[in-house]
Amino acid sequence: MHACCCFAVAAASAPPAGRAPHKRPAAATSNAEETPTARAVDAAAAHNAASPPPAAVLSRRHAAAATLLAAAAWAAPHVPAAAAAAAAAAAFDEGSKASFYAEWPYVSPSDILPFLRAAATPGDADSVLAAIDRFAEFYPMYRCGPEKGAILEELVAAQQPALALELGTFMGYGAARIARQLPPGGRLISIEASEEQAAVARQVLEYAGIPVGEGPEARVRVVAGLSGDVLPRLRQLAGLGSGAAAGFVFLDHCKPCYLPDLVTMEQLGLVAPGTLVLADNVLVPGAPDYLQHVGGSTLGGSSSFFAGSESSSSADGGGRGTPSRGGGDGTSSGGDSSGTDGGLAYRTELRYTAFEVEERYKKDWQPRRDAMSVSRCL
Ligand SMILES: C[S@@+](CC[C@H](N)C(=O)[O-])C[C@H]1O[C@@H](n2cnc3c(N)ncnc32)[C@H](O)[C@@H]1O
Repeated sequence: MHACCCFAVAAASAPPAGRAPHKRPAAATSNAEETPTARAVDAAAAHNAASPPPAAVLSRRHAAAATLLAAAAWAAPHVPAAAAAAAAAAAFDEGSKASFYAEWPYVSPSDILPFLRAAATPGDADSVLAAIDRFAEFYPMYRCGPEKGAILEELVAAQQPALALELGTFMGYGAARIARQLPPGGRLISIEASEEQAAVARQVLEYAGIPVGEGPEARVRVVAGLSGDVLPRLRQLAGLGSGAAAGFVFLDHCKPCYLPDLVTMEQLGLVAPGTLVLADNVLVPGAPDYLQHVGGSTLGGSSSFFAGSESSSSADGGGRGTPSRGGGDGTSSGGDSSGTDGGLAYRTELRYTAFEVEERYKKDWQPRRDAMSVSRCL
């Protein structure tokens, strides 16, 4: 099972029977398997058992199932696009699928690398992203994808954070999108549970021409480890000043980890007034406890978050963390301070999109409606 546990239950599936390569896809291993990422998730579940929310004290599978049940109760109706889905599926003729699977098996995370070398141009991030998107037409790929990726880039470009954090790197697709929108001197630290996946992400980013590493010239640093373990030592690890907060945070790892990790970042001052927190998959698989914390549980969608005006979908969040221990990174455009009562509060809106793990290779695939939450820490 993949480390992105909620996804794996919801979305991981092998290519159609008879079309798969002789070995299983890397991202679609069964629940019973013990892979490095599965072990990482088990460790994450154990780690989170020490702190709220209650779902985190359940086993990995129970937690995933609970999240899915919550998402089912919450999620907006599926996009009524059966006809579009059928047309998309038909576009993948069986012959071309068979030859793709034969040529490009996806057995371990590094199997993306030969495909990138064949399909993308070194130093050209656009071509690397497009190649990963192409690969995702054949295999479950836990990257944010083009639609959500555009939202991610729009927000980073507007926020211009000196420091951005991403929880859940996978193969560096989202990291590449964040990195290319950072201001001069800005940097991204991306945390990935799987050592193997982190190593692949570094190679993908390097191939895309994005300076990656630990030195001062690096735009992106990929840190291998569980978010719950890495965050408390991040200041020391990355040489962050004691008051430095992230201007932008992208939550895209295990869904039951969103809330405890946000609270940890609040307590550490990594999230502070002015920080913009983007969380993916808040409807599918769903993160209802997190949404409740940031005040997004009753919101609609809009696209005017940076306009400064109150929109019908924005509201002062009910989120209450510990008192702020520092300002934003200086480049954050802070929201108003209403709604606070001494703790951290958020103004949150939802951006509705399709769920990004497109399984077009499945005959019964249908697009599903999901959302990203965009929360301004007040
Ligand atoms: C959805 S993928 C990330 C996609 C990436 N943000 C992108 O847009 O390309 C989720 C990743 O989170 C990682 N992950 C799951 N739980 C984690 C944790 N507690 N800490 C760090 N990474 C975690 C998984 O191994 C997986 O690679």
